Amino acid sequence: MDRSSRLPGFYQRSVAERAAVVAAWASLDAAEQAALMGAQGLTPELADKLIENVVGVHGLPLGIATNFQINGHDVLVPMAIEEPSVVAGASFAAKLIRAGGGFKTSSTAPEMIGQIQVLDIPDLDAAQNAVLSRRDDLMEIARQQNQMMVDLGGGPRDIEVRLLKETAVGPMMVIHLIYDCRDAMGANMVNTACEAMAGTIEKITGGRVGLRILSNLADRRTSKAEGVVPVAELAFEGYTGERVVQGIVEAWAFAAADPYRAATHNKGIMNGVDPVVIVTGNDWRAIEAGAHSYAARSGRYTSLTTWGKDAQGNLVGSLEMPTAVGIVGGFTRVHPTTRAALKVLGVKTAQELAEIIVAVGLAQNLAALRALATEGIQKGHMALHARQLAIAAGATDAQIEQVVARLMVGHQFTLEAAQEILRGL
Ligand code: MEV
Repeated sequence: MDRSSRLPGFYQRSVAERAAVVAAWASLDAAEQAALMGAQGLTPELADKLIENVVGVHGLPLGIATNFQINGHDVLVPMAIEEPSVVAGASFAAKLIRAGGGFKTSSTAPEMIGQIQVLDIPDLDAAQNAVLSRRDDLMEIARQQNQMMVDLGGGPRDIEVRLLKETAVGPMMVIHLIYDCRDAMGANMVNTACEAMAGTIEKITGGRVGLRILSNLADRRTSKAEGVVPVAELAFEGYTGERVVQGIVEAWAFAAADPYRAATHNKGIMNGVDPVVIVTGNDWRAIEAGAHSYAARSGRYTSLTTWGKDAQGNLVGSLEMPTAVGIVGGFTRVHPTTRAALKVLGVKTAQELAEIIVAVGLAQNLAALRALATEGIQKGHMALHARQLAIAAGATDAQIEQVVARLMVGHQFTLEAAQEILRGL
């Protein structure tokens, strides 16, 4: 039986109760549940084995986004993020898209690109032909560096040659090694393969190899999420569904046309993407670099999502972007919270994880655009802020809503104001 990620009232429960619900949902054992709650996460001793000059570990709030249904399966999504409203926004938007049949996702093969820069080539065109005619030999060198990846069905896939005829230091050749990383992010294996090929490339081209490094513009390793929201679902308070759909499409058109807006629009998408990337132990700088370079691939920086209307006036959205994430190796394997988070997600391949990540990115964008195109985002932010102040002031569960309501009416968002209200109750 498929489990439901619809968990009404989840947000009103205590931290321990929520953790217990998620643990039961994902069949976590006691240690995994403790890791999820931060009680048994990354230790300084473990951290000391990972980076240099360690003096401690740094925490982030870990929330669970609910309501996600992806390709017919329900998913609970762990998100590590400090910003209020993001987890609530993702959950809310996932509920809207769920009403339209849930997210449909897909992804390309997990192929990364490794780059080898070759300078001082006497004859660029002859060298290009020579490299392509030795394609199989070069791939064999790359293959020999990681037999395990080859056995798992990955490894080198192709060699491409690009000529940069005009650069600040003169012409250069760039060789791309296309490498299928399967369930690993793959930076190390791609870099190793590129370094191993360098000597042979110098012999073939008569040139001098410079850089040998992975490209973060992972445009061969992309994932796509699509979703529909029935127009009626978008109506609220004084807004008709039609008006909200139109507002969201206009908001998207703004981002599609203007890089200043696109930067903020895409930042909102990354509000959904990064917390899942982080909690699963992946390299969020790589994902950020990939997202923004992909957004500029036409030569003009633009929106990563698209929003429009179908024939019935329903809202239709999609997000496609590079997703260089893994579920094996390094940090992913050693961090106890990451392991528990992957178990909650229930992913068996890196592509499944990548597809969940883009679904959350699309949901987050929807939540932001819906708020921006209607009442603005501050109302929701301030309500959450007021809630945090009420809790900090010592309000009991029964008192929180009353304190929040009075803070909102008084527009006084300070701890003192919350304490004052609490004394008066
Ligand atoms: C804030 O973290 C994100 C937003 O600015 C995104 C957007 O403007 O689309 C609300």
